[in-house]
Formats: sequence, structure tokens, C-alpha cells
Amino acid sequence: MVTSAEAAAMATAADLAGSVVADFGPNPRVGCVLLDPDGTVISQGAHHGAGQPHAEVVALRNAGERARGATAVVTLEPCAHTGRTGPCTAALISAGVRRVVFAVVDPNPAAAGGAQVLREAGIDVEVDASSSGANELNHRWSIAVRRGRPFVTLKIASSLDGRIAAADGTSRWITGELAREQVHQMRSDVDAVVVGTGTALADDPALTDRRPGAMRQPHRVVIGLRELPPALQVCQSGALRLQTRDLGYAMTQLFERGIRSVLVEGGPTLATSMIRESLVDELVWYVAPVLIGGGRNAIADLGITTIDEASRWQRNGVTSVGSDVRIDLTPITPQDSGGPVTDVHRNR
Ligand SMILES: NC(=O)c1ccc[n+]([C@@H]2O[C@H](COP(=O)([O-])OP(=O)(O)OC[C@H]3O[C@@H](n4cnc5c(N)ncnc54)[C@H](OP(=O)(O)O)[C@@H]3O)[C@@H](O)[C@H]2O)c1
Repeated sequence: MVTSAEAAAMATAADLAGSVVADFGPNPRVGCVLLDPDGTVISQGAHHGAGQPHAEVVALRNAGERARGATAVVTLEPCAHTGRTGPCTAALISAGVRRVVFAVVDPNPAAAGGAQVLREAGIDVEVDASSSGANELNHRWSIAVRRGRPFVTLKIASSLDGRIAAADGTSRWITGELAREQVHQMRSDVDAVVVGTGTALADDPALTDRRPGAMRQPHRVVIGLRELPPALQVCQSGALRLQTRDLGYAMTQLFERGIRSVLVEGGPTLATSMIRESLVDELVWYVAPVLIGGGRNAIADLGITTIDEASRWQRNGVTSVGSDVRIDLTPITPQDSGGPVTDVHRNR
């Protein structure tokens, strides 16, 4: 049974972890709150990215001797393995913590098993899976670790008639300012923004978050075989070039570089291939009240010849964004697993 003080501490730990602005690399966001036996908060801590101490260790350091006999409330199962830092299970045991409540079981088999280690050391362990805050915190990260490739969000901005560019290739701008600002926010929420060489050449995009005060920028990635002129903004900003059309391989490459979430902002060629290869986990589609008639379709040939084979999506939200409409969707069919999960996926 989780007490009301522990449930409140879990919400605090999730808020704390969610508020950290840092480059997490391959690591999850984690928050920890230590409670005394009366349920009073002793200390708290959050993880600040690869190579930094884990949330549990920060909270234990902040508590000092007061950690003895405490309850540690953690958003993720304490790790049982040595990455860049030592196992959190060892730190909790040696600090004399009496009880551990965590929300999310570690999805990486190599790092998991923390609960078992703690129980074997005589610590009372409880899983509180009901915390929506803690579950939300690493939703994308957990899926990425399970699939062995980054969590993929595909963004499309089209006209009412499903066009993403006019016949001459121009597409700036189909949607309004508010929708474009949201896209800048989306860029700041992912590890990398991905386009194909077609978009890099046609639009010369910067792919950055250009909102005033933007705190961090995603990696920029261009996929495709063609050479790009060095004057392009993506080249000037040191974008990662993946000279391949093998998207499964490209996603694995990104994963191995510690990238756990990507926003695909490519044109119809890349978007279509990503969907065909079941590599899209989330689709954000902006529809503008504009008609183009000719020009490029948002999606090209998906290899579908009859309506029973249509690619169907679950609609999770429809919102007005200025004069445009945003539709949030997830695929109904399961996405590519990307291969087995291994320990390279986590390097806390
Ligand atoms: N409204 C919007 O949301 C939006 C967003 C982006 C772009 N656009 C518009 O889209 C147009 C560009 O479209 P696009 O389709 O050429 O751009 P794209 O999809 O970004 O790039 C296409 C290129 O991606 C590479 N590629 C990588 N993996 C591939 C694979 N598995 N299969 C096929 N190609 C792969 C190929 O490059 P290589 O030939 O070099 O191998 C291909 O030519 C422009 O007019 C731009 O303004 C609109």
C-alpha cells in the first residue's frame, strides 16, 4: 500500500525531474524524494543527464545521516548496474533506507533488477504504477529502449487538400505563425530533428528552436545519399549526415549515438518511407485552411492498393492552433521493434 505522503512525494519527484533542462543523452529523467517515517520530506534530488549523479544519490547526499530509516520515493526503478556511476541500489542500501517506492519498472533488462536487489537486502519495496506524472516522464524513452531505436514523431503541415508544397516546390508557409511556433517547441522537446536531403536542398532549413530564450537545441540530422552544398544552414551548423536510404540502419545509428527521440520534418519522400517501414510512433498533422490544388501530396505511394489495407491511425487529440487545426495520432498497427534491447541503450 502506498501512503498519501508517498503518492504526493511521487508527484513532486516527477515534477522535479520534468523541470530539469539538460541534455539527457541516452538517460531517462528521474526524480527522488526522501521521506522520514512520519511522511515528512527530508530531501529531494533529480538526475541532470549522462555522467551526472542519479536522482537517488543526489537526494541521499542532501539528506546525509537523516537518510537512515527513510523511505525513498523514486520515479524509476533504482538501477542495479554500474554505468558511468555506481548502482543506486548500493547507495540506498548503504545509506540505511528502510523502504523504496518506485513508479516505473526499468525497461532495460541489463539495468533492471534493482527491486530484487533491494528486497534481498531486506528493504521493503513497493511499485506504485498509478503515478501518471512518473509514467509520462519517460514515455518516449521507455519505448525507445524497448525498440532499440529513437521514439519517432512525424510532423506534417499540409493544406486542406493534403498538399505540402506548391508545384514549384515552395511550401513557406502553409500553416500560420502559431503552428510554426509550436513546431519550435516540439524541436526543443526532442533529441534530434531529421529531414531528407530533398528538404535540406529545397528549403535550406535551420531546424532550430528559434523562440526567444530557447534553452537547448536538438541535434540536426539529414538522411540521404546526395552531397549537400556546404553553404546550407544544416551544414554550417554541423548537422549529422547519414548517407543512406536504409532508415532502419539510420535509426539504429542515431540510437547508438544516444538519441532517444526524433522529430521527422522531412518532405513526402522521407515521411512516406518512415510510414511504410512502420517507424512512426506518433504523427502530428497540422491542416491549414488553404487549397493548393496541384503540388506535392503530403504522403506518396504507401503500397496500398485496396481500402482494407489503408494505414489507419488512432486520433488522440484535435486542437485549434490559430487558424490551423492540429491532429495528434498514433498508429493502430504495432511499430517496428528495431531489434533486441541491449545494454548499450542505457549509460546512466
Ligand atoms: N509542409 C511540410 O510539412 C514540409 C516539410 C518538409 C518539406 N516540405 C517540402 O517537401 C519538398 C521536399 O520533398 P522531398 O520528398 O524531396 O524531401 P525529403 O523527404 O526531406 O527528402 C527526400 C530524400 O530523402 C532521402 N532518403 C532518405 N531515406 C530515404 C528512403 N528510405 N527512401 C527514399 N528517400 C530517402 C533521399 O535522398 P537522396 O536522393 O539524397 O538519397 C530522398 O531524395 C520541398 O518542396 C519542401 O518544401 C514540406
